[in-house]
Amino acid sequence: MLDNDDIATNTVDDRPFSDLVEARISRRSAMGGGLAAAAAFLAGGTVFGGVASAEATTGARAGAGRNASVRARELLGYQPIPLGYGDEVQVPDGYTARPFIPWGTPILGSFPAFVPGTPPLVPGGNTAADQAQQIGMDHDGMHYFPLGRGRAGNEHGLLVLNHEATLEGYLHTGALTPPPRSVYTQDMVRKSQNAHGVSVVEIAQDDSGEWKVVPSRYNRRITANTAMTFSGPAAGHRLVRTSVDTEGRAPLGTVNNCAHGYTPWGTYLTCEENFNGYFRRDAGTYSAEINALNTRYGVGGDRYNWSTHDDRFVVSPDEPNEPNRFGWVVEIDPFAPRSTPIKRTALGRMKHEGAFVHLSKGGRVVVYMGDDQVNEHVYKFVSAGNAQSLRARRRSPLDIGTLYVARFNEDGSGEWLPLVHGHGALTAANGFADQGDVLVKTRLAATALGATPMDRPEWTAVDPRTGLVYVTLTNNTSRTTANAANPRTPNRWGHIVRWEERGGDHASLNFDWDIFVLAGPGDGVDGSTIDAEDAFGSPDGLWVDPDGRVWIQTDGSQPGAANNQMLAANPYVSDARGAPEIKRFFTAVTGSEVTGVITTPDQRTMFTNVQHPGEDGNSTWPQNDAFATPRSATVVITKDDGGVVGS
Ligand code: FEO
Ligand code: CA
Ligand code: CA
Repeated sequence: MLDNDDIATNTVDDRPFSDLVEARISRRSAMGGGLAAAAAFLAGGTVFGGVASAEATTGARAGAGRNASVRARELLGYQPIPLGYGDEVQVPDGYTARPFIPWGTPILGSFPAFVPGTPPLVPGGNTAADQAQQIGMDHDGMHYFPLGRGRAGNEHGLLVLNHEATLEGYLHTGALTPPPRSVYTQDMVRKSQNAHGVSVVEIAQDDSGEWKVVPSRYNRRITANTAMTFSGPAAGHRLVRTSVDTEGRAPLGTVNNCAHGYTPWGTYLTCEENFNGYFRRDAGTYSAEINALNTRYGVGGDRYNWSTHDDRFVVSPDEPNEPNRFGWVVEIDPFAPRSTPIKRTALGRMKHEGAFVHLSKGGRVVVYMGDDQVNEHVYKFVSAGNAQSLRARRRSPLDIGTLYVARFNEDGSGEWLPLVHGHGALTAANGFADQGDVLVKTRLAATALGATPMDRPEWTAVDPRTGLVYVTLTNNTSRTTANAANPRTPNRWGHIVRWEERGGDHASLNFDWDIFVLAGPGDGVDGSTIDAEDAFGSPDGLWVDPDGRVWIQTDGSQPGAANNQMLAANPYVSDARGAPEIKRFFTAVTGSEVTGVITTPDQRTMFTNVQHPGEDGNSTWPQNDAFATPRSATVVITKDDGGVVGS
């Protein structure tokens, strides 16, 4: 979504590394366009022999190795499509894309039919109570949990998806222009809050192979008002207590759920990104501590007018802590519809883009996370022990462990700096009196340790075959001094960095990194390292499928002012410049971004999302219904011959 991510609230100086950028790029060329693991992986031949390491990326196992005979050079088997314009989605020849579960689709309760409002504000559109029984707005991160083993699980499962935000105009009136603040009613605020959060929806293929919603006891809406709990070191901390929740253990709701994660034990992680903009910050005298938090996290703006009828979203000197109860990763058990979502504080507090879970050697849980704002950081959490052992003792691996922040050195090495109370500058004298302080003030702690300011870290993903970790850096138009991992000033088009954990151990404290691609118009324009036919900008969503295809989704300016898009890269094949093979696979509609990507375990159905179509006012997508109001929706993509998507 659009936000003030381009405004730096981390004012730490970028070190002037520009003289070292050339060295990084030429080192990359000398290595033939890849880190040692990727090079070694390919050196064994072009035929995949299965997963390269003993580690497994969670959720990928069901499909990994199924295409063991795929040749690296033939990984992307489709004809790429051109840049997209206009109000229809596009996929390659031989593929079909169908809109699915658009905003407002009834999934539970009395299954209220979707009814848009009528401009300027005529009663008759869906109420807040209706919205609580319907799919939310602004589909984002998403995972598919199969129901049943083998073939059954490829045709029947739980789709769990985030609803990042709302376009208040379309939500309330069916038109783009948001209603004026003065007309807001309590029901409008509640409707907006109910259009946020997460949907859990059971889906199945019918006899014709078309995916349908199943009325199900699993179907659930989690919203900005769902009861939750805190766990981990910041649960009950003084900075998360309010006058309503004096114990600081019962937060309410989740907002701005951007990307996601999923665990080996079958739960979903939803991530709170731009929570800061939901609050009205009143004038007054705040403590220096609260001032520092409000400044670094950018609290204020009241972008959704919730404060008009919900005092919880008013920040005042007497009630300053509600924003500290957001910015967390929330664990949801989709198979237990009455379970209470848990805010896992050990994973830190930031504008969490996503939380990609990988198992280390020894079965520790490693969670990779980006904090999406200019000059913010890349993080990982490592559980203190084997995940299965911890769970057998009824301890969550997401509660006990160490949070680290990344420093990318100019020589291509990197370090994970532990965000642990008492370590380095993280002492009481510097405002970190305990581990709860370190976690509530994660951004401030990261700066105190010397973490590298990045160009808006978005999604992370691990290649299940090589163990390489990828992160999208979406753009940074305000960068004036480069560092080696963020080499362009300004960075208009974004880039993707990847790294290899030292020794192939995802719990390692050291890594070796490289720049995978510098996005842009291609053929060297603005420093882009891709071919012109693969032009893209603002990489955001990211996933490496079980065969190794790196799916890249965009949100922001595209070359040629084209619509946002999804491409796939083949990381195992590179040209003379070291650039990977890339093919454009999907183009979205006007005024939208592409978010969320997952397949069924057999990789024959892909789910992706078109978020906020018509943000510029020029869309009526999906035009498969009677309504002219554009609606965020999932898109189901299948290959007409029934094959693996992307093959
Ligand atoms: Fe919600 Fe950073 O995109
Ligand atoms: Ca995003
Ligand atoms: Ca984005």
